[in-house]
Amino acid sequence: MCGIVGYIGPKQCIPVILEGLRRLEYRGYDSAGIAVIDGGQLRVQKRAGKVADLAQLVERDGGSASSTVGMGHTRWATHGEPNDANAHPHTDCSGTIAVIHNGIIENYRSIKTKLIRDGHRFKSETDTEVLAHLIEQTYRRAGDLFTAVRIALRDVEGTYGLVVLSSREPDNMIAARMGSPLIVGVGEGEHLVAADAAAIVEYTRHVAYLEDGEIAEISAGGFRTTTIEDVTVDKEVHELTFDLAQIERGGYDHFMLKEIHEQPETIRNAIRGRLLVESGDVKLGGLSGVSEKIIHARRVILLGCGTSWHAGLVGEYMLEQIARIPTEVEYASEFRYRNPIVTSQDVVFAISQSGETADTLAALRLAKSKGATALGIVNVVGSTIARETEAGVYIHAGPEIGVASTKAFTSQLTVLALVTLFLARAKGMSQKDGAVLAKEMQSLPDKAARVLDHADELRSIAEQYKDARNFLYLGRGANFPVALEGALKLKEISYIHAEGYPAAEMKHGPIALIDEHMPVVFVVPKDAIYEKVASNIQEVRARKGRIIAVANEDDEEIAKMVDHVIRVPHTFGFFGPILNIIPLQLLSYWMAVSRGTNVDQPRNLAKSVTVE
Ligand code: AGP
Repeated sequence: MCGIVGYIGPKQCIPVILEGLRRLEYRGYDSAGIAVIDGGQLRVQKRAGKVADLAQLVERDGGSASSTVGMGHTRWATHGEPNDANAHPHTDCSGTIAVIHNGIIENYRSIKTKLIRDGHRFKSETDTEVLAHLIEQTYRRAGDLFTAVRIALRDVEGTYGLVVLSSREPDNMIAARMGSPLIVGVGEGEHLVAADAAAIVEYTRHVAYLEDGEIAEISAGGFRTTTIEDVTVDKEVHELTFDLAQIERGGYDHFMLKEIHEQPETIRNAIRGRLLVESGDVKLGGLSGVSEKIIHARRVILLGCGTSWHAGLVGEYMLEQIARIPTEVEYASEFRYRNPIVTSQDVVFAISQSGETADTLAALRLAKSKGATALGIVNVVGSTIARETEAGVYIHAGPEIGVASTKAFTSQLTVLALVTLFLARAKGMSQKDGAVLAKEMQSLPDKAARVLDHADELRSIAEQYKDARNFLYLGRGANFPVALEGALKLKEISYIHAEGYPAAEMKHGPIALIDEHMPVVFVVPKDAIYEKVASNIQEVRARKGRIIAVANEDDEEIAKMVDHVIRVPHTFGFFGPILNIIPLQLLSYWMAVSRGTNVDQPRNLAKSVTVE
């Protein structure tokens, strides 16, 4: 979604802002702009295109080298096409107030109508621009920018993470949050504001998270926060747990490839300090206070979108097979609108990498409003979903920069496996059985590393299929969600249409698609239903389908049945998805590279969908 960076302090602000926007490019955007206060004047430069295009524009116009207070924005269009006029910042009629904004102002049309009637002149089609004119209007009676913004926002419905600058008050920035994340960076004699810590971690690791309904006045020397209702709020300053090096590409061509190869380490990090192999126990401090509620729940509901929803589907197999806990998985976007039957007997887990996905957050809030216990399985520490749940488990995957989720998915599955063992043991699973599962879980990082040893094989396979127009992904049991996730990966970064299906469903329709032009990927570990999947493979083969199989290292039959085999180590069926997805991540990566698409920032996609 949109990127926001603001700086106030002794440094030249333009390089700080542009570098910060570059670190947010992974969020997906289509225009960029900057506003600085220079010699008492507000200077705004903005255009459709990339941050590099904005930097050229700033350079050509001579920049404002002396300016030490400013803000920048990268926009992912929601209202109004991506062009220069619709790019942020937006200004008021007097050209002394500038606003950048992430979110959607739902009642902007009615506000705009009134403002036009009051004589305001608009220059864009955006919802955001109404904020600039509304603040201009309230400024007259408020007397200062902080109060003007606070009063203006009382008339606003919708979501925002916004920053306001005015040449009338060059020593302050105003930041406010409702539904779109904003953090304040606390430095020595300088302060920053950003939509994501990645933009400012280079300057400070000390941050304060604004909550919904809060507004902050930020100066070089400090900041103060109140609610929109003018109630003072004392903010705790946290220390960020990751540094810049983690954000950089680390020598890989793309963040996505780096993150695929990080998985042995990120799976290890998800387990670290939580798995007691000898006793077969799991320590999850975040859930200790709610374990009884989960064990005695009528059911567990796993909420998510996209890849996180796929993680939930695997989690359902784990929780029901191992912990025998009734589990349902819901698309958050559907759940939030179908008036679901949820009671205080239910426990809801919101699964989200970013912790900011609007649909997942709304579904979580709905479940809470109906009395459910709200828990989270989240990656980004301090994110909205993390802070709105009663308890939860962080997946510790580190910043995931590639828009296509990879390491977060395997870490979500690892945490779901930990939660499952934690609950199974609490429900009476024997220490012996627990230790068997714990021991296997402990082996997963090394087994993931063994899968990555075959990474180059995927590159040659991808070369052979890069012109395919459709793919079918098939799996059974806990590998059906792997088929879905593998198909999603291919779709979102190579733009090839792909469908995931339960392998047994082939005969109910999809088999009509099979011919020599339809590559079919099977996830076919040597488990209890291997023979069933093998017969599905024969059905495809009989119709000249070209077959790529993800199969176990010791499977000597498979090579006779398929065109390509990618080997994965054995593990227990419900842990299998953690390993089996890795070859499919690599396949989609190399397909995208061979097709020259933008791997880390695929077209039309955003890393975190914080609007509906
Ligand atoms: C996955 O590759 C996609 N980027 C997308 O489906 C993503 O999983 C979905 O938007 C949910 O995001 P979240 O995990 O941050 O909530």
